[in-house]
Amino acid sequence: MRPIMVAGNWKMNGLHADAQHLTQAILDAALAPTVPEVVLFPPFTLIASVAALARGSSLRWGGQNLFWENHGPYTGEISGPMLRDHGCRYVLVGHSERRQIFQESDEIVFRKVMAALHAGLTPVVCVGESEQERESGQTWEVLERQMTAILPALGANGQQANLIIAYEPIWAIGTGKTASPAQAQEAHAYLRSLVARKNPALAQKVLILYGGSVKANNAGALFAEEDIDGGLVGGASLQAGEFVQICRVAEQIGRGG
Ligand code: 13P
Repeated sequence: MRPIMVAGNWKMNGLHADAQHLTQAILDAALAPTVPEVVLFPPFTLIASVAALARGSSLRWGGQNLFWENHGPYTGEISGPMLRDHGCRYVLVGHSERRQIFQESDEIVFRKVMAALHAGLTPVVCVGESEQERESGQTWEVLERQMTAILPALGANGQQANLIIAYEPIWAIGTGKTASPAQAQEAHAYLRSLVARKNPALAQKVLILYGGSVKANNAGALFAEEDIDGGLVGGASLQAGEFVQICRVAEQIGRGG
């Protein structure tokens, strides 16, 4: 059985006081120490605020993005070693907002995945189709293209599941239109089958999170699906009570890993 994970992507939201409030609320909830693993993705400016409170607890944190070089003349960028220096274990790569707004191609996503791995970070790689792609029957093609770009990185350091996949259908992000558990399960099973083509053993181990309007009232049905290993939560991760409830749902499902 794969463990379950709940991750909160704060996107470009929050000031120091918000980070303190949200982090403290999760710590106060005293979730079971490893089930689920809870990870926060604050903006870069708040990583230190989260780390100051969460260090020493089972709560983890990560960056929302990184650059593929370690240092140098790249004004405005942040590298993997910089994230590690702030205690990050994870980093989001290829979120649809970065693919769409910042023109991140599959090739850039792959370079960032490799940079994350070299820095000792676990990349959480986001894939997902747009509404138009789904409606025109291109979902599987889009997912296959996005996965083909990153699969060379999988298992690069031995037999570990060294990356996490997040299936985030773009039409479900921030829209309140959650994928149904059956729709999400179908996509997750497909993504896992693509991993299995490369490495059947790792396909059983790799975590595939669902993202797109996850709330406390739909998390249970989603996380209960066989191939859904937790959630990448956007809007609801900015509300302490709601996010803690989502963690509790995962805790009740309680896959021990
Ligand atoms: P919402 O939960 O706000 O739909 O955002 C999902 C997301 O993009 C997480 O990365």
